[in-house]
Amino acid sequence: MIRVLGIETSCDDTSAAVVSGDGEVLSCAMASQTSVHAPYGGVVPELASRQHLRDLPRVVDRALAEAGAPLESLDRIAVTAGPGLLGSLLVGLSYAKALALGSGLPLAGVNHVEAHLRSPWLEHPHLKYPSLALVVSGGHSHLFLSRDMKGVRLVAATRDDAAGEALDKLAKRLNLPYPGGPIIDALSARGDPKAFAFSLPRMAAGSLDYSFSGLKTAALHHLRTRGLEPPPSPDLEDLPQWLLDLVASYQKRVVDHLIQRMRAAALRHRPASLVMAGGVACNGLLRRRLTALGEDLGIETAFPSPRFCTDNAAMVAFRGLASEEYAPAPSLLDAFPSAKWTRIAETAH
Ligand code: KG4
Ligand code: ZN
Repeated sequence: MIRVLGIETSCDDTSAAVVSGDGEVLSCAMASQTSVHAPYGGVVPELASRQHLRDLPRVVDRALAEAGAPLESLDRIAVTAGPGLLGSLLVGLSYAKALALGSGLPLAGVNHVEAHLRSPWLEHPHLKYPSLALVVSGGHSHLFLSRDMKGVRLVAATRDDAAGEALDKLAKRLNLPYPGGPIIDALSARGDPKAFAFSLPRMAAGSLDYSFSGLKTAALHHLRTRGLEPPPSPDLEDLPQWLLDLVASYQKRVVDHLIQRMRAAALRHRPASLVMAGGVACNGLLRRRLTALGEDLGIETAFPSPRFCTDNAAMVAFRGLASEEYAPAPSLLDAFPSAKWTRIAETAH
């Protein structure tokens, strides 16, 4: 059975993994950069690429050792080529090119968002197509319809911030640690999600696009008009109740918005499965609400385990298994900072 080495360095996680042809993850090594970027409250691109440069060689070595598979025993290499931070992408791509040239293994460039989009099949190989897939992370909020393993069309995208970005920005304003998504997820359990009113974003008729910037503005408005000032260096065990209520109300609205669009798209396109991936897909409330939506509509739902929701190389290797785009010469592969998608007409049925 073939085995693929995957390499991921598109943002702030360095990861390498070995996945076999039947989708078994033989290893998935990670080096997180959270502590590098935390003092700045967000990813600093220049620091990210330098840290990838330091971490990638040993992360790849660890993935090969844990899989018990020397490089020469593998069949292919797949590397994230985009979208992402250009400097970070180039570190992974250059390293993968060197490995491919040195070993003679074929190399494929993988689209990071497509890797997220297909990741639910890693643990749920029998999920049916057509599938409606929500990709929600710090950089993406996209809804796709996949007719099969290869064909994918965009149903909706965000007009401004990504869902994770919306959570991270509120957390930053509240002086909560970076990244804000998981903190808001945990703190929301202690708050009242009805305490603060947030209206749902509206779009032109027929559009299923997302918009999160209005929610952020509304949260800032609540702080200003009620004279609420977050503690400068908060103790997470001892936060004011209003802050817990605010994050719970905000998170609920972010999730309401995502699920409302998913429901409308499901009714419009009648998929056989509903899936989601990306860091925000770790969110407890979102996972519960998607499961409930699937039950309500009678459509099977699935999402990856949290470690395969956030950026990881297992999804890159898995995507590489299905790729037919192995570069004839590795040196021809180039990084791409953004991706273009074929969009389904908004009024289509
Ligand atoms: O997929 P990912 O690791 O990196 C990107 O490609 O962006 O996603 C990171 C994002 C961050 O915005 C983080 O706050 C969010 O995922 N996130 C969460 C949770 N865990 C990570 N958001 C909400 N709830 C979580 N449990
Ligand atoms: Zn990602």
